[in-house]
Amino acid sequence: MTVFRVLRYSPSTGEAWKEYRPELKEQASVLDGLHAIRADHDPTLAYRFSCRSAVCGSCAMWINGRPRLACQTKVGQLKSDRVEIAPLRGLSVIKDLVVDMKPLWDAYQKVMPWLVEKPNAETMVVTKKTSDVVEKFYSCILCAACFASCPEAAQQHRYLGPMPLMDGFRMYVDPRDDAKPQRKQILGGPDGAWGCHGAFACIDACPWDVAPVEFIAQLRLELVKEKFGG
Ligand code: FES
Repeated sequence: MTVFRVLRYSPSTGEAWKEYRPELKEQASVLDGLHAIRADHDPTLAYRFSCRSAVCGSCAMWINGRPRLACQTKVGQLKSDRVEIAPLRGLSVIKDLVVDMKPLWDAYQKVMPWLVEKPNAETMVVTKKTSDVVEKFYSCILCAACFASCPEAAQQHRYLGPMPLMDGFRMYVDPRDDAKPQRKQILGGPDGAWGCHGAFACIDACPWDVAPVEFIAQLRLELVKEKFGG
């Protein structure tokens, strides 16, 4: 029987690993296991989930040594008789597997993830190159796995981090956007693209293979080209 080891936390009792042996059906996901623990062992276990189909991003947690979506991860695919589950790293824990997402949302807001439309935006043509960038970002489900696994974002919450920089880049290259100087200041500042130290942890962390670091590299290139008129 698979053992679930869960890092529990509450502000009153502190942190402790607890073991459970939930009854699992074949093809059960880690999220199914958590549901079984809550139903049959401890109704106080706290974790986030919503869609159960790897779309909403709310069930990201640390599973057997790396960030994964609990609903997307089958217990069988882990090929282990132990499933070790902890909250996402780099974000403070509110209770059990529920982390405080505020640092991520603050960083996300700083990059202005909305289009500031130019007056003639409706008549402008968006090139295939730009629409490819925009489309790739649509796979991002804002689960925070990249942000939580990035050593820079985790250590100092001033660095904007992978997902916010990626979305900032999407707006930066959109010809219909009218806030380029402002974006350049935010994305090109020390807490922006130049704060990435190339740990590449965000590549493995992303459940949808979006690879935020590639966007950060492209963003740096654009910033340099603009500075030197390339
Ligand atoms: Fe929505 Fe897992 S519950 S991504």
